[in-house]
Amino acid sequence: MKIIIVKDQNVGGKEAFKLVEQEVDVGKLKTFGLATGSTPVTLYQELVNSSLDFSQINSVNLDEYIGLSAEHPQSYHHFMKEHLFEAKPFKQNFLPNGLAKDLEEECSRYDKIIQDHPIDFQILGIGENGHIGFNEPGASFEGKTAVVDLTDSTIQANSRNFEKIEDVPTQAISMGIKSIMASKKIILLAYGQKKAQAILETVEGEVTEEVPASILQTHSDVTLVIDEAAASLLTK
Ligand code: PGA
Repeated sequence: MKIIIVKDQNVGGKEAFKLVEQEVDVGKLKTFGLATGSTPVTLYQELVNSSLDFSQINSVNLDEYIGLSAEHPQSYHHFMKEHLFEAKPFKQNFLPNGLAKDLEEECSRYDKIIQDHPIDFQILGIGENGHIGFNEPGASFEGKTAVVDLTDSTIQANSRNFEKIEDVPTQAISMGIKSIMASKKIILLAYGQKKAQAILETVEGEVTEEVPASILQTHSDVTLVIDEAAASLLTK
């Protein structure tokens, strides 16, 4: 794992941008794996302000809430439109359909999309509990796209974007850890003290399904872009 420690989220966005730019410049980015949440916002701002052209690049997102339509203001479809896709058109944008009637079929459809569009470069955030995508502690490292129950801590953390905690969906469709690990290159972003314990366990802890992000230790091309607060518990 390569670790880049930055002062804050704004500098983190600029560092991560440079890594994306390199891939686009050498023509290696055909499918871009994207994440939602507050963490990647400064990276997306850098992308929006850049002259990078994504019109020949596909995107595949990690997850979507079950029960929210693409137009719902808290859906991840909406988030991506607002933060990136409206300003930067891609060839195609893929996200799971949170309103699919047959959720199992939707998971298979999404796996087929990932299979047909192998991810070259995956952006990840991390949950305070070490989740990646919505793969919560205990999720199988061999897992593919699945319907997942969100843990109380994730619901609590995400409730800041909803009017009240009861409005937070309790389930999501998430790309599995096996698909995330199949990405050729991965960048994990984390900012703030609240992420420090998860970062410590991800980098220095044992590789265990109890800390989903710890599997990244076994990937050959992972870069962490984290701020000083998120790095504050690292000992090495
Ligand atoms: P956050 O979420 O960027 O809003 O902190 C990250 C995550 O839960 O993966």
